[in-house]
Amino acid sequence: MSSPAAIPLRQSLETLVRDAFARSGLDPAHGAVELSRRPELSQFQANGAMAVAKAARRNPREVAAMVVAALADNPAIARISVEGPGFINLSVTDATLAQATAGIAGDARLGAAAADPPRRVLIDFGGPNVAKAMHVGHLRSSIIGDTLQRVFRFAGHDVVSDIHLGDWGLPMGMLIAEIERERPDLPFFVPGSHGPFPAQSPVSIDDLERLYPVAAQRAKDDPAFREAARRATAELQSGRPGYRALWDHFIAVSVGTLRGEFARLNVAFDLWDGESTVNDRIGPMVARMRVDALVEISEGAEIVRVARDGDQKEIPPLILVKSDGGAMYGTTDLATIEARAEARLDLSLYVVDQRQHLHFEQVFRAAAQAGMTAGGLALEHVGFGTVNGPDGKPFKTRAGGVMKLSDLITMATDEALKRLAEAGLAQDATAEEKAGIARIVGIAALRFADLVNHRLSDYVFNLERFTRFEGKTGPYLVYTAVRAKSLLDKAAERGFGAHGLPAAGLGAPATDAERRLMLTLNGFADAVAGTIEKRAPNLLCEWAFLLAQDFNSFYQACHVLSETDVALRDARLTLVATTLAALDRVFALIGIERPARM
Ligand code: ARG
Repeated sequence: MSSPAAIPLRQSLETLVRDAFARSGLDPAHGAVELSRRPELSQFQANGAMAVAKAARRNPREVAAMVVAALADNPAIARISVEGPGFINLSVTDATLAQATAGIAGDARLGAAAADPPRRVLIDFGGPNVAKAMHVGHLRSSIIGDTLQRVFRFAGHDVVSDIHLGDWGLPMGMLIAEIERERPDLPFFVPGSHGPFPAQSPVSIDDLERLYPVAAQRAKDDPAFREAARRATAELQSGRPGYRALWDHFIAVSVGTLRGEFARLNVAFDLWDGESTVNDRIGPMVARMRVDALVEISEGAEIVRVARDGDQKEIPPLILVKSDGGAMYGTTDLATIEARAEARLDLSLYVVDQRQHLHFEQVFRAAAQAGMTAGGLALEHVGFGTVNGPDGKPFKTRAGGVMKLSDLITMATDEALKRLAEAGLAQDATAEEKAGIARIVGIAALRFADLVNHRLSDYVFNLERFTRFEGKTGPYLVYTAVRAKSLLDKAAERGFGAHGLPAAGLGAPATDAERRLMLTLNGFADAVAGTIEKRAPNLLCEWAFLLAQDFNSFYQACHVLSETDVALRDARLTLVATTLAALDRVFALIGIERPARM
């Protein structure tokens, strides 16, 4: 199956232009080629002549003209000209366009470059908290993080994803204290007991989700309970067997539920580690940091000062050990970095709400001071904005509580079912099949709506808009792909040949719609590269949307099944097959599915 790497058009043109710069005695670094910002004028543009001319104190239009002259008789180029202050506009011949597209079509990677060198990348995302229902913030982390893991892996990086459960802080002690209050006679609470403890969990996930807010409220109102919760947390962390046994049940019960919710979102993790995973490292790590004089005592707590000269704003110290000996959120993060460094990772990405930026700044600085990153581990916070309600404030339920992820998924699926009925889609399917299609459409709506925004922007949650089959939505993409597939199925039914034809069957484009579609197919590699470089899946989503639009325009403008010129018909069917393969590929990267029919 190994085909020679296909080189997309922009990349091969850039090689030509850089070479023309060099042959004209100019620095080839300025020969970058990009897609034209005015597609009605040309397919591509090169803007480096201005910078080169400025450095050499020459006339930019003259410099550009030199480059144009050096390229004028290249057979791949159909049109090339100097515009405005010194832009070089260029378009390729139809034969070149078809040939490059055939290369993409025949390449399993659709022209995307392989990571060079591949790096060992850990992606920390999801981050749900044990016993607490996941909310929309976890939705963003999960969707963006999962998409990044898919794209990095596709590029050839060695990726490990870690859910990093919130399973070790005060909330755990609050739950233990609350259960002890309600059911003090459970064996878990017998002082000094080493068990055995009940193998059956005394609490279900519903119990945990009910108990947690009760306990949190009680901790606010009642200082004695707060103290009990704090003590329970410290005793859990230092290994009291009964508490550990009870806590093991919390984890098992929560993880069972979480697995189901993440599966519904098409999100997977390699590691289900948590804050607790590094508990045994904390003592030795702190001891070593004391020896290295990185720790200071302040008001009974041990802290690490991380402020630096020249900081624009105040960076407060990281609290490592509280006055009661308990570990903090930052302590477990720091110990986790130590573990990740020992695992010889090159890069660790944290896909977490931008509002935690300061936390990561503190932790990363402490890690650097403790020498944990000296072996080459790079740490990076990949932040994201909030999901808001129509009022512009963080999204809530009507009753004002946090919106649970599972409810959200159900709402999206229900809305998708309504939309399918409105659009008259999948109406002859069985109820079961229809439910499956609604799930695919609903998840596509949620994932795409989240990913298409730049991760740092906030967005307004609007299911009605996200689930539409028109516009920049997941359902529009899904619908387009199903349409392409049904076209190919019809062609196969009629015995038309092109369905499985090799990509060499792509003909030269005869219309602008075909040219645009081919050009866009050549842009996959850049969409992947940009997504990786900027940790920005919106680039891949924009590309997928463009591809779907170009496909629909092509389908409107060109006869396919009804084309009487058989060679043209088969060439167009090959273009359809290539587009479908590209849609399936980008779907796999952004985590949406294509139903067999709709
Ligand atoms: N559990 C945290 C929260 O809900 C997110 C964890 C993010 N990852 C990390 N390594 N700190 O806010």
